[in-house]
Amino acid sequence: MIFHVLTIFPEFFEGPFAHGVVKRGQDAGLLDIRIHNLRDWTHDRHRTVDDRPFGGEEGMVLKCEPIFAAVESIWPERHPPGQKVVLLSAQGRLFDQSVANRLAECGELLLVCGRYEGVDERVREFVDEELSIGDYILSGGEVAALVVIDAVSRLVPGVLGCATSTADESFSHGLLEYPQYTRPPEFRGLCVPEVLRSGDHQAIARWRRQEALRRTYERRPDLLALAPLNDEERAFLATLRRSSHG
Ligand SMILES: C[S@@+](CC[C@H](N)C(=O)[O-])C[C@H]1O[C@@H](n2cnc3c(N)ncnc32)[C@H](O)[C@@H]1O
Repeated sequence: MIFHVLTIFPEFFEGPFAHGVVKRGQDAGLLDIRIHNLRDWTHDRHRTVDDRPFGGEEGMVLKCEPIFAAVESIWPERHPPGQKVVLLSAQGRLFDQSVANRLAECGELLLVCGRYEGVDERVREFVDEELSIGDYILSGGEVAALVVIDAVSRLVPGVLGCATSTADESFSHGLLEYPQYTRPPEFRGLCVPEVLRSGDHQAIARWRRQEALRRTYERRPDLLALAPLNDEERAFLATLRRSSHG
């Protein structure tokens, strides 16, 4: 999968992609991350990418011409849905696991990072999608682009090295993940649940599903409304509800 990032701070991305899963994905040729300096599409001596807003507000706004020129030069012809231009913006749709799954189906993404007071409104006419990583204001879209690239990269086939690695992760089936333990079996009086050391794979799978339900019920009950549950799981949830209300 190819990720293009359009930014006025290309150096920002020098460290984050040089580690872990994303680095391995690049080394294996499964991920190709191309950082583009927006200033390369300016034509004046100062390589100006921003200007004062009409109407007389404080701050500066990223101009639309270099952004349009950059996208049109990176993709002289656009082929959605395989190629998508995404604007990182606090006003966009909330980026979550379902959006990450959908974006992982694209062959190529071009992420536009805003700065200052944001981008000229006309850029919104030009992009395919606008995504926010949460209800807070960042100084620039670069941090959001990192989040999107990291979350989407994990879903690109082969990047995690094992097709089942994402299957039980939080949000993949609408639930938070069950608790995980590793050695030692006992630490300062805190013990690993017996069932996990029993070798009984059916019992372990059942325990994990129930603990995922319990954890989701306790921490993110909002997720349960959409989680696909079978009869046994619905009954377990009803027990949890009864015990917490009684
Ligand atoms: C200081 S912010 C501009 C905020 C804008 N004036 C507003 O009120 O919506 C500068 C840039 O950071 C990025 N940004 C800020 N918060 C973000 C968020 N929650 N998710 C994604 N991008 C964000 C966007 O690219 C934005 O153009």
